[in-house]
Parts: sequence; C-alpha cells; structure tokens
Amino acid sequence: VILEGVVTTIDRDGVTNIAPMGPRVADAMTRLWLRPYRTSTTYGNLQRTREGVFHVTDDVMLIAQTAIGDPDPSPKLQEATAVKGWILTDACRWYAFRVEQIDEEGDRACMDCRVVDRGRIRDFFGFNRAKHAVIEAAILATRTGLLPAQQIRRELGRLSVTVEKTAGEQEQAAFRLLQTFISQQIDR
Ligand SMILES: Cc1cc2nc3c(=O)[nH]c(=O)nc-3n(C[C@H](O)[C@H](O)[C@H](O)COP(=O)(O)O)c2cc1C
Repeated sequence: VILEGVVTTIDRDGVTNIAPMGPRVADAMTRLWLRPYRTSTTYGNLQRTREGVFHVTDDVMLIAQTAIGDPDPSPKLQEATAVKGWILTDACRWYAFRVEQIDEEGDRACMDCRVVDRGRIRDFFGFNRAKHAVIEAAILATRTGLLPAQQIRRELGRLSVTVEKTAGEQEQAAFRLLQTFISQQIDR
C-alpha cells in the first residue's frame, strides 16, 4: 500500500528540503520503498546522504505548499538523533530512515529504506474528504507538464465540489493555492 506523507532531507548546503512523497509501506512500518523522480531534490539528497525522515501528517497546507515550492512560514523542526536529519514537530508521526539499496531502473528510482527510529507526536485528524481532495489537487499540481490541461481542469472541478461541501479554512486555503498555481501553469 502507498502511504502519502512528507519527507525531509538535507541538501549539499545543509539546508532542509521538505517534499510530499508516497512510499510503499508494509503494516509494521519497518521499511519504506521510496520512489522519487530523478529530477527531484529529494532524490539527489538521498542519493548523497542516504538518510531522511518520513512523516505522516494531516496538514494539507504543508503538503500543498511543499508540492509546488517552499513552505511559508517555515515549519518548526527538531533535530533527529538516529540519522542526520530533521523532524517536523507538527507532524502526527515520523520515521527516521536509512536508504539501504537503490534500484535505478525506470524514470523513478526505487529506494529501499530501513526505519531506524520513529515517534508519535499527536493524533491524526481522521477522514475528511476535503483533505483528500487537496492531496489529489497537489498531485495534479506536480503533473501539469505530464497530463492534458483538459483532464486537469476536469479533475480539479470535481475536487472543488468536495472541498465546498466538506472543507475547513485550512483545506479551503490550500485548495485555492493549488488552483491558482495550476491555472498559472496550464492557462498560459
Ligand atoms: C501526495 C503526494 C505524493 C507524491 N509522491 C511522490 C513520489 O512518490 N515520488 C515523486 O518523485 N514525487 C512525488 N510527488 C511529487 C513531489 O512532491 C514533487 O515533485 C515535489 O516538487 C518534489 O520536491 P523536491 O524536488 O523538493 O524533492 C508527490 C506529491 C504529492 C502531493
């Protein structure tokens, strides 16, 4: 099964990079199989450092912002101890991992990661259709160069109905941010 979350890694200059990623996971969460595109910063950082922290969160504004750029304001971070990396202190759960093997075949690398430390910070909000709609919209935002504009518009329109019915303020703001970004990309 794929678990959508947020990965922190460290770049060449020591700066923390934050990006949504959906690794394959197994029930016990003792391993993660990350599949980053080779064009992503996460891929380059993990290739070099072989360490990072995967987070489970319900903060869809963070996911939206990091899908299309940098988060604002910068989220609070706490230094991890088992790996050289940083924990998002507002996440629900975190998993510090080491990359043990990289399969470079295909357009995405497959990184086999062992979880070496983990923590629980707070409860997960629970199912909310608007949160899921924002996740889908964030994925669309990262695929504007790959999918036909018409398909993106159609899917975004469908998602907006769910957001109108079920969103709180955070979900509404995150969805609007993604709508604006996507229309800048495809309506040029
Ligand atoms: C929920 C979600 C899951 C994603 N999963 C992946 C993934 O597994 N692999 C990947 O390469 N990109 C994935 N993306 C797209 C990346 O987050 C996006 O390309 C991002 O800009 C990469 O950031 P980076 O260059 O800082 O690593 C996902 C996006 C979202 C919103």
